[in-house]
Amino acid sequence: MNKIKINFENNRKDLKGDILFVSVGPQNRDEVVKENGVKTLYLKSDEKVNLRKLFLLVRKMIAMAKGVKTEKIAFDFNDFKFPNLKIKDEELGEIIGSELDFANYEFWEYKTPPPEGFSEVKEVIIINTTKKIQNAILKGVVIAEEVNKTRSLSNTPGGDMTPQILASKAKEAVRGLPVKVTVLGEKEMEKQNMRAILSVGHGSDEESKFIIMEYFGASPISDRGKKKNKPIVLVGKGVTFDTGGINLKPSNGLLGMNMDMSGGASVIHTLALVAKMKLKKNVIGLVPSVENMASGKSYRPGDVIRSMSGKTIEVLNTDAEGRVILADALFYSQKYNPEVVIDIATLTGAAMVALGERASALFTTDDNLSKTLEMIGERVDDFVWRMPLWEEYENEIKGSLGDWTNIHNKDSRYGGAIYAASFLHQFIKGKDGSEKSPKWAHIDMAPRMVAMAGENLAEGALGSPVRLLYKFIEEYN
Ligand code: BES
Ligand code: MN
Ligand code: ZN
Repeated sequence: MNKIKINFENNRKDLKGDILFVSVGPQNRDEVVKENGVKTLYLKSDEKVNLRKLFLLVRKMIAMAKGVKTEKIAFDFNDFKFPNLKIKDEELGEIIGSELDFANYEFWEYKTPPPEGFSEVKEVIIINTTKKIQNAILKGVVIAEEVNKTRSLSNTPGGDMTPQILASKAKEAVRGLPVKVTVLGEKEMEKQNMRAILSVGHGSDEESKFIIMEYFGASPISDRGKKKNKPIVLVGKGVTFDTGGINLKPSNGLLGMNMDMSGGASVIHTLALVAKMKLKKNVIGLVPSVENMASGKSYRPGDVIRSMSGKTIEVLNTDAEGRVILADALFYSQKYNPEVVIDIATLTGAAMVALGERASALFTTDDNLSKTLEMIGERVDDFVWRMPLWEEYENEIKGSLGDWTNIHNKDSRYGGAIYAASFLHQFIKGKDGSEKSPKWAHIDMAPRMVAMAGENLAEGALGSPVRLLYKFIEEYN
């Protein structure tokens, strides 16, 4: 997978060679036409193109170019300035750059190349830009590169993506960048009383890991306590394979569960991106990573775990493992005295039942944080939709043996995504609920784990929500 090369030209007439020219306009259909030796891709559009349609349109351009095995395409930036967009040229440039490279991605690490090579677009020539627009387009490509690396981590089969390997990938992702990576193994986690993470990982032969990434872009070490320097902490679920454990998943629920570390992957590459862009912010990434296996050493239904916070978890279902490991990670996040904590997890099938596959579920009690994340998501093609986190839901996760049950205490089928969120909430709240807790949002990204048909993207992982997290941090003040 190669990064797309972008070149800028002033005039279409200067272009020579085997190039697919793209013409965007209100014709009836999308087609590639060859006239007098010139190949043109006619892309159908109308005056009503909004942002959502723009994302699809840019991606379709790449998908069609790949379809006719063209390595070089050219288009006019002005063709994408639709009246309904109402955004600045620079923002449009960033979106176009990002969508071009995002759409060009394929995961062919495990495939033997065909004799003629895989078809990918190698070069894009963009006409009619200013220096400002050009910089924005190139920035969009840098962002998409990190999104694509996230996709590759997720797409990697479970046998090749263990907690140990994920930890080494975290180090690799930030090599040469000012991000400190610390990896706790099982011994170190025992010292920290991270029993929740250790319990879930107990059934696996692979050692559990707790990955800590620290980037201090805002301040010298001495100033870190100051309010404006309080960090943003990202917490990502890093289950490298989810069999369900003793509550083993049915056959049709197992495939794809190598991607259950997608939240963790997004945290890793958001940290890399933040450091690459030299943002003047303090950002911490935490990724609890385990394999949820069924064996003689697995944690059991009915077990009660004392989490790092001291609160006990009554395990009613070993397949609700994500929230259990996140309990310790969320509690751990508080040691940074964070300004805001956001966790990202492929947490529940119920989020997909509720929303379909077009938006991740967003939970927070902070209305401003919710609005900000929803609005940014719309702008960067990482859609999130808010769901409730009312206190009343806590009644159904109160335990009889332990403090909190890891699923609805009557095993109801209803509202699964909400009960998961409500469970997480307990571990970001102060011990007795009285201490001031940081702003917190939970993103259940199960709906956006893999691409849908019709999105003009490669099958498999989406690298969500790296763009949302990055833009949130970039604009946070
Ligand atoms: N990783 C799964 C959720 C998931 C399923 C993500 C499909 C993406 C696609 C999670 O650990 C899980 O198993 N959740 C259970 C919870 C249930 C036992 C309450 C689920 O959703 O069925
Ligand atoms: Mn599970
Ligand atoms: Zn899971």
